[in-house]
Amino acid sequence: MKRYLVQTFGCQMNVHDSRRIEEVLGDHGYLPTEEAAQADVIVFNTCSVREKAEQKLRSAIGTYRGLKADNPDLVIVVAGCVAQQEGDKLLRQIPHLDVVIGPDNIQELPALVEHLRDGAPPMARTVFDMDAPRFLTAKPRTQAHEVTSFVTVMKGCDERCTYCIVPYTRGPERYRPAVDIVNEISRLVAGGVREITLLGQTVNSWHSQGSGEGESEFPALLARIAHEVPELVRLRYTSPHPRHLTPALTAAHAELSVLPKHLHLPVQSGSDRMLKRMLRRYTAADYLARVQGLQERVPGLTLSTDVIVGFPGETDQDFEATLQLVRDAGFISLFGFKYSPRPHTPALKLEDDVPESVKDERLQRLFQVVEAQQRAHLASLVGQRVEVLIETRDEARPERFSGRSERNELVHVDVPAGADPRGTLVQAEVIEAFKHSLHAVAMGAVPRRELPAQPARQPVRLPLASA
Ligand code: SAH
Ligand code: SF4
Ligand code: F3S
Repeated sequence: MKRYLVQTFGCQMNVHDSRRIEEVLGDHGYLPTEEAAQADVIVFNTCSVREKAEQKLRSAIGTYRGLKADNPDLVIVVAGCVAQQEGDKLLRQIPHLDVVIGPDNIQELPALVEHLRDGAPPMARTVFDMDAPRFLTAKPRTQAHEVTSFVTVMKGCDERCTYCIVPYTRGPERYRPAVDIVNEISRLVAGGVREITLLGQTVNSWHSQGSGEGESEFPALLARIAHEVPELVRLRYTSPHPRHLTPALTAAHAELSVLPKHLHLPVQSGSDRMLKRMLRRYTAADYLARVQGLQERVPGLTLSTDVIVGFPGETDQDFEATLQLVRDAGFISLFGFKYSPRPHTPALKLEDDVPESVKDERLQRLFQVVEAQQRAHLASLVGQRVEVLIETRDEARPERFSGRSERNELVHVDVPAGADPRGTLVQAEVIEAFKHSLHAVAMGAVPRRELPAQPARQPVRLPLASA
């Protein structure tokens, strides 16, 4: 029996693609293994969004050199964004590499591996599926009791943020038909999934077809999913672009109860000068007006974001503007990155002139500000009720489960002995705030939605109320 091992780097799209790689290999008789020494196919699903991705990959593959000596049939594959970016150049540069495969060619992997075993030379397939875009459908993993799952709605990116390699590695925007999206969600929900995160690089630019010109039809897609899959408990999406946070999308947040009270909306900088250089197509004031409009319609909605520090030409004043925006928007968490020049990006023309030590310092200050906001936010919830979609059980404590609140706080919930509320919404009272999460006690089952039965589970038994 042949075995595979997939190692994943990068974003949620790559995590999602790795699952599809596992599925196509599984369909061809391969079984998973955690041990590189037992694997017949090792796939590196790579990311090139920051830093020296190519060099890191080379040294990671170098560590498997010995395995190839022990198992001459071992096939080493590079997939993902470094594969797409470098193509067959990688085959020339990395001696032990057998297959290079782009994100749009995942389905072809088993055949390529077979050709190789039949004696074909190492090969690269990195062709965008422009004419007939393929979206591989996720298989429900009923055995794994997954509560939350990703579903792709679009791929590629037509923005040209000057720092970003993604348009180069993922190609132009292509949208998946609504009917396929709804069908995939229905199948996953029938298999026990309760929360879906719609995926796309600019997910809220979604169109039912064509070039994507004109106003996005994403709000209509959300409404359609909510109506056609009423058993779905939560519908999240990532990553939206601020310019597609339209009045219609704000209205959808106010009207569709399946949308939680949280939005991850990358801002990148709070300085208009930097935003212009980054080609983000909005000002700090535009961004704030949009999120504040959303918060007026959805009181209590929390925000998180992505920020780049040390973009070429960023002065102390520009960075102060970013800190100010982080305060004004009240982000409760953020991903902060030091700018790193990437090949094939327009910003390469600009000198990477902010010293590393300044980038480090700015990143630390950024984290300090957001951590203080996060702590204050979590502390303000002590004594309040939260609604938690329970995802996992604490291995060490059988009566403690974890999940996310509507506002995306991570909540550890104590439940009565014998209960297993995974996959259900639980009302809980917050008794304690930790640095990055909350501790709560379950208050009772939530009758908001009838959840389809999950036969392998024990029924949920919770007290009606606690003292
Ligand atoms: N499509 C998504 C995310 C793309 S990459 C979006 O537009 O929001 C994820 C994050 O990586 C970006 O939001 C940005 O903050 C960061 N990033 C991208 N390119 C970068 C670079 N060259 N240097 C540092 N951070 C970068
Ligand atoms: Fe990159 Fe900008 Fe596209 Fe996001 S929107 S993937 S940051 S180019
Ligand atoms: Fe990285 Fe590619 Fe995702 S560059 S962030 S894996 S789209």
